[in-house]
Amino acid sequence: MPELIGKKVIIRYFKLDDFKDFYEFSSDPRVGYTAGWKPHTDENTSRRILQAKVFSAQNFAIVEKATGKVVGSIELNPSHIRERIKAFEIGFALNPDYWGLGYASEATRLLTAYAFKEHNALVLEMCHIADNIQSEHVARACGFIYEGTLKAYKLMYDKRIVDVKLYRLTLEEYKRMK
Ligand SMILES: CC(C)(COP(=O)(O)OP(=O)(O)OC[C@H]1O[C@@H](n2cnc3c(N)ncnc32)[C@H](O)[C@@H]1OP(=O)(O)O)[C@@H](O)C(=O)NCCC(=O)NCCS
Repeated sequence: MPELIGKKVIIRYFKLDDFKDFYEFSSDPRVGYTAGWKPHTDENTSRRILQAKVFSAQNFAIVEKATGKVVGSIELNPSHIRERIKAFEIGFALNPDYWGLGYASEATRLLTAYAFKEHNALVLEMCHIADNIQSEHVARACGFIYEGTLKAYKLMYDKRIVDVKLYRLTLEEYKRMK
């Protein structure tokens, strides 16, 4: 994937050199908790996960354009809900120092355009734990449409069982939006 360049952020593959920035947000309890994964508690875990991301074609760094700092991550994974349709799920997480600046929604819009254009996606999905209002804002701001709530859908790392809200954007809906 080429770098996707927006007004405020750039989306690119992760590098091993991103470790300091990656650990900064991955170890912050405010990030993992609502995203659904255990905040990293030691550098070795973070280093291992970053290595996997570096070699992944689906995981990308969100870079603040003005400073070059890696402020978050965004993913484009094959859908595990839709069948035999070219569908992908977008997921993201951002360093809390950079919340509320429109970075997540710009990153999502960049990846959405890329997925429809370069991956020939027919449907994109986003989902979030039902009480994750910030993710809901990103989904709606980017034109994704609420599909429903999956009750008792996910077992979290802390043993909570949570409801998950699901959104979609079809290629047709995307074209109409533009
Ligand atoms: C989810 C997360 C990435 C959102 O980050 P953020 O910085 O709040 O996102 P943005 O600043 O891009 O805001 C998203 C949109 O919501 C809008 N918004 C913010 N508050 C709003 C409100 N109260 N009402 C309506 N819209 C609102 C913003 O205006 C923005 O839209 P715009 O770019 O069109 O202006 C961040 O909270 C996070 O990393 N959380 C922890 C990890 C996580 O939950 N990940 C998602 C897992 S599904």
